[in-house]
Amino acid sequence: MFRSVVTGSGAFLPAKLVTNDDLSKIVDTTDEWIGQRTGIRQRYIAAEDENTSDLALAAARNALAAAGLDGSDIDLIVLATTTPDQTFPATAVRVQNALGMRHGAAFDVQAVCSGFVFALAVANNFLAVGQAKRALVIGAETFSRLLDWTDRGTCVLFGDGAGAVVLEAKSQAEAGGRGILSTHLHSDGAYENILYVDGGPSGTGTVGKVRMNGKEVFRHAVQRLAEIVDETLEANGLVAADIDWLVPHQANQRIIESTARKLQLPMERVVSTIARHGNTSAASIPLALAEAVEDGRIRPGHLVLTEALGGGLTWGSALIRW
Ligand SMILES: CC(C)(COP(=O)(O)OP(=O)(O)OC[C@H]1O[C@@H](n2cnc3c(N)ncnc32)[C@H](O)[C@@H]1OP(=O)(O)O)[C@@H](O)C(=O)NCCC(=O)NCCS
Repeated sequence: MFRSVVTGSGAFLPAKLVTNDDLSKIVDTTDEWIGQRTGIRQRYIAAEDENTSDLALAAARNALAAAGLDGSDIDLIVLATTTPDQTFPATAVRVQNALGMRHGAAFDVQAVCSGFVFALAVANNFLAVGQAKRALVIGAETFSRLLDWTDRGTCVLFGDGAGAVVLEAKSQAEAGGRGILSTHLHSDGAYENILYVDGGPSGTGTVGKVRMNGKEVFRHAVQRLAEIVDETLEANGLVAADIDWLVPHQANQRIIESTARKLQLPMERVVSTIARHGNTSAASIPLALAEAVEDGRIRPGHLVLTEALGGGLTWGSALIRW
C-alpha cells in the first residue's frame, strides 16, 4: 500500500468581485443581514465566457507549478464539480487535454459541496493500491450559473472558483508519516428535498436552479459534521488537540464555528475564507487549503482535518498529514 502525499496546491478565482451591497441592488437584502447570518461579505463570479474548466485549469496549473510537475507527469485527474461545462464530456477530460496529458484517466465526481472530499477519497484509493502514481484532485465550480437571482435565500450564499492539489504515491518509508491518513464518506438520499437543483438532462431537460430549505440544511450540517470529526479522530486514535488546522467546507461561518467549538479548537486554527469567497461548493476546501499553504499557515508535517456537507445529502472528511 502507498501513501498519497500532497506535494502541491493551487487556486484560482474569477476577476469579478460582487459585494453584499451589490446584491442588495438586485434582491431585498442587506450587507448586515448576510454578514450576520453567514459571515459572507463578498464573492467572485465567473465571466459569461469563463467556464468551470477554465477555472479548474488555472487552479491545476498553479498546483502543478507548486509541485514542480507538469501535465505529462500526472496519470489521474479527479475533478469534483456540480457545474460541468457540458453534460458530457466530463470537465476533467477538458482539463486533461489542456494540460497536454495524453495518458492515464480523467473523470468527474459529483457530490455537490462535499465533492472535493469525495474526489480526494477516490484519488487516494487509486494511489494507495498502485493504480496511479500522481493525481490532480480538483474542485471547480461556476455555481453562479445555478442560482435563481430572484431568491434572496440562496443567491447571496454562493460564489465561483477552483482549487486543486497534487497527490503523489510514496512508499510508507518515503512518506515518513506524511499523506492522507484516512477519508470518511457518507450520504443519505432521504434528505434530497432540502437542497437540490430543480432541473437536469433526464428529469426536465433544463439546467435548473438551486432550491434549499436553509434551516434544515443548517441543522443537518451542525449535527453531521460534529459526528464525522469524531469518527475521523477515533479511526486514527487521535484527539482534537492533535489537529493543527481545521479546513472546513465554507458554507456558513456559524456552521464553521460550531464544528470548531465541538473540537474545542480556537478559531486561530481554523481556515476560514467564507467572508471573501462565499460558498464555492466543491472548490471551497481546496481554495482554503491553497491559501493557507501559500501564506505559510499550513506547513509540512501539520495535521489538517477537512470536512464538508452538501446536497444529497452527502458528507465526508479527510485527515491529512501535510
Ligand atoms: C440560509 C441561512 C443563512 C438563512 O438563515 P436563517 O437564520 O435560517 O433564516 P431563515 O431562512 O429562517 O429566514 C429568516 C428570514 O430572513 C429572510 N431572508 C432570507 N434570506 C435573506 C436575505 N438574503 N436577506 C434578508 N433577509 C433574508 C427570510 O425570508 C425570513 O424572513 P421571514 O421571517 O419574514 O420569512 C441559513 O439557514 C443557512 O446558512 N443555512 C445553511 C445553508 C447552507 O449552508 N447551504 C449550503 C450547504 S452546502
